Amino acid sequence: MAGLRVAVLASGGGSDLQSLLDASRDPEAGFGVLIVISNRPDAGALARARGAGIRCEVIRSDGQDPGRLLALLGEAGAELVVLAGYLKLVPPEVVKAYRGRTINIHPALLPAFGGPGMFGRRVHEAVLASGARVSGPTVHVVDEVYDHGRVLAQWPVPVAREDTAETLAARVLEAEHLLLPAVVRAWARGGAAAALSLAAPAFGPALSLPRILDDALAPWPRPSP
Ligand code: GRF
Repeated sequence: MAGLRVAVLASGGGSDLQSLLDASRDPEAGFGVLIVISNRPDAGALARARGAGIRCEVIRSDGQDPGRLLALLGEAGAELVVLAGYLKLVPPEVVKAYRGRTINIHPALLPAFGGPGMFGRRVHEAVLASGARVSGPTVHVVDEVYDHGRVLAQWPVPVAREDTAETLAARVLEAEHLLLPAVVRAWARGGAAAALSLAAPAFGPALSLPRILDDALAPWPRPSP
């Protein structure tokens, strides 16, 4: 495989992983997924990886075996580690070895709505309870603290008046599937600096706003002229 060697850690269904696998098929993508590692043997992400012919490994859930995780990443020659729905804290030894080369996708606009216990529907419930009118995924650099490292890129997604945690999660997830591959492609082109440049206010011409944004905005009353 030519290009950036990516390792993905995932605990869940793996739709974010799938967005990377799909994007990596483009000969211009500049990256490939070499290994998918999960703390759950039944993770859908592993099934997706297996289907794509990618090496799959399961590690202990308690994070107490950093040596094995380091060995797997080393064997894969990982240059970028992507947490795509990985629900465990990455052991500090691994954060240290891959400092600045590990990124995570979170389904809300950090630094709000993050931290320990803020995953899955809890994140979206908290957004709805706050009255925020905008949510959206964040891709950030991973450090020793949950959802804490430097923000690389975000994708604003409107919160609709009638949203439930499920409808908001689904809308944010659609944006995740655009944002995550965009960040990894940019990283393959020019490292963290290129990924950071995606965070410009207009988000750059490479990404078009999905139609769902218009649909979601429709229920809000328009301001009178
Ligand atoms: C995503 O919402 C991501 O932001 C969060 O975990 C979820 C993973 O979804 N970190 P999937 O397993 O990739 O479908």
